Amino acid sequence: MTRGFRLPDRTYLPAIFERLAIDEQDQHEIVAAWPSPDADPTTWRSLVRAHATLVADMGGFEPLELPAPAMDSTPLGRYFFAYVYLAALADVRRFHARRGIPDEVSWATLSDLGRNLKRDRLLLGDGGLRTSGWLTLHFRGSIYQLGRLQFTRMNVRAAHVADAFREGEPALGIHIPESGPLTPEACDDSLAQARPFFARHFPETPTRLAICTSWLLDPQLAEYLAPDSNVVRFGRRFRLVGEGYDGDADILRFVFHRITPRIDDLPQRTTLERAIVAHLRAGKHWRSRTGWLVL
Ligand SMILES: CC(C)(COP(=O)(O)OP(=O)(O)OC[C@H]1O[C@@H](n2cnc3c(N)ncnc32)[C@H](O)[C@@H]1OP(=O)(O)O)[C@@H](O)C(=O)NCCC(=O)NCCS
Repeated sequence: MTRGFRLPDRTYLPAIFERLAIDEQDQHEIVAAWPSPDADPTTWRSLVRAHATLVADMGGFEPLELPAPAMDSTPLGRYFFAYVYLAALADVRRFHARRGIPDEVSWATLSDLGRNLKRDRLLLGDGGLRTSGWLTLHFRGSIYQLGRLQFTRMNVRAAHVADAFREGEPALGIHIPESGPLTPEACDDSLAQARPFFARHFPETPTRLAICTSWLLDPQLAEYLAPDSNVVRFGRRFRLVGEGYDGDADILRFVFHRITPRIDDLPQRTTLERAIVAHLRAGKHWRSRTGWLVL
């Protein structure tokens, strides 16, 4: 059940911005471009439609494309999805409450909105939220941040199938937000939380299988990084399946926050930055790989 598209009351905005980790620059721009049905009737109708599509699938975890107008470069166009998610905040908070999700997990999860706004600015040079897909998971209640890692509810896809599991069976997807080092202790703690958390709050899809698809799982990284580096140790937790896909774009985007950069322009401060560039200069490519583990 949904109440329709309603943006949060402005008096609550400071508290909401803080909980969603939205930084000051984004706060200012979001408030300045705040939409209204009278001033922006066409965009308002699009917001209503996108929000309705999102909340109609509350609890869903298959990819969801939200209907949206052709993005223009006005602040309202750039922040279109931020308004959709701000309106969906009340809906997802109700869903979390019904599922008994602890408040701190709920807010830690939803604060990925602020992180994604920052990433958008880094990648594209100005403020906004131009990708809709990723955050539809958060605002549909299908991803949870448990300590260092995020876990999504998912079904095994054909590309993941290995001897140990079948297509269509429930699993958890592991994601690694950019929030400090990926220490083995923090990962142990997150992985230990995941099984009891999902067994308790989503008992209808019991699973011990966790799957990760990432540039972090490319075994070629071990040719450059120390065996006791966090990245290599993280990769060793997983059994790889399939061949993955070309990972150059992913690794450049996640490590350098760039889309199609010139190789000569990339910073060379860390072992990983130097490894990425040396590998590409040698005419080789990175792979994003899929691996699994049992929780
Ligand atoms: C995943 C992540 C937390 C790993 O960082 P970490 O714990 O510091 O990694 P390691 O300890 O293994 O680092 C090994 C080397 O790589 C460097 N390195 C790791 N991640 C780096 C990054 N994002 N940018 C630049 N250098 C990086 C480290 O500085 C270190 O080099 P140094 O010894 O010369 O300083 C980090 O890469 C990150 O935040 N990435 C963005 C999120 C992401 O990619 N998620 C996966 C999406 S599929």
